[in-house]
Amino acid sequence: MGHFDDKAELVAEIFSRYPHTPQGRRSALMPLLREVQDAHGYVSDTHLHEVAALIGTTATEVRSVMSFYSTYSAVPTGQFHLQVCSTLMCALAGSDELWDELVTRLDVQPGEVSADGRFSVQRVECLGSCGTAPVVQLNDLGYYERVTRRRCHDLLAQMQQGVTPAPDHQVPMTVQPNGQQVTAAGQVAGRSSSDLTRLEAQP
Ligand code: FES
Repeated sequence: MGHFDDKAELVAEIFSRYPHTPQGRRSALMPLLREVQDAHGYVSDTHLHEVAALIGTTATEVRSVMSFYSTYSAVPTGQFHLQVCSTLMCALAGSDELWDELVTRLDVQPGEVSADGRFSVQRVECLGSCGTAPVVQLNDLGYYERVTRRRCHDLLAQMQQGVTPAPDHQVPMTVQPNGQQVTAAGQVAGRSSSDLTRLEAQP
């Protein structure tokens, strides 16, 4: 059964945000992928093809978009998906050593889930918190900042007990189901995509 087989209303709502044209339909790619990612923790090949068929494009195009955004995963992730920033400021602050520590301690490589199902790891580009390098993001939840080796040990020890250590900050911006962006402080930013003026096809 496809992810969207029983979600005709949701799919119609997502498509309603875009022009009723073939190009507009393809614009629904990102929110459809987000739905799958949130529900399953990753986008399987089956679901990737389902999304491609829904928007009228190829699996290759969907794959290429997914590969551009680290927020989408094509493989299952663990309960704790740790994303280590590897861009310059974090690298200067020790993120390479932090990465080595993580993959060694957890005995897991990118694309794998640890034997106990708890952990997966990924290197990502700048998380936008360079002043608190090195930074590690947990799932879509938040950031651990200035992660020293000692702190890394403490965080992993808690996670190995199934406890989620409180992040220092939530992820800076989340998008609610109605298309509204909200900052970590709870402030609404900009307009909801559902309020935007619809672009119509040229006659
Ligand atoms: S370089 Fe790591 S948060 Fe910007």
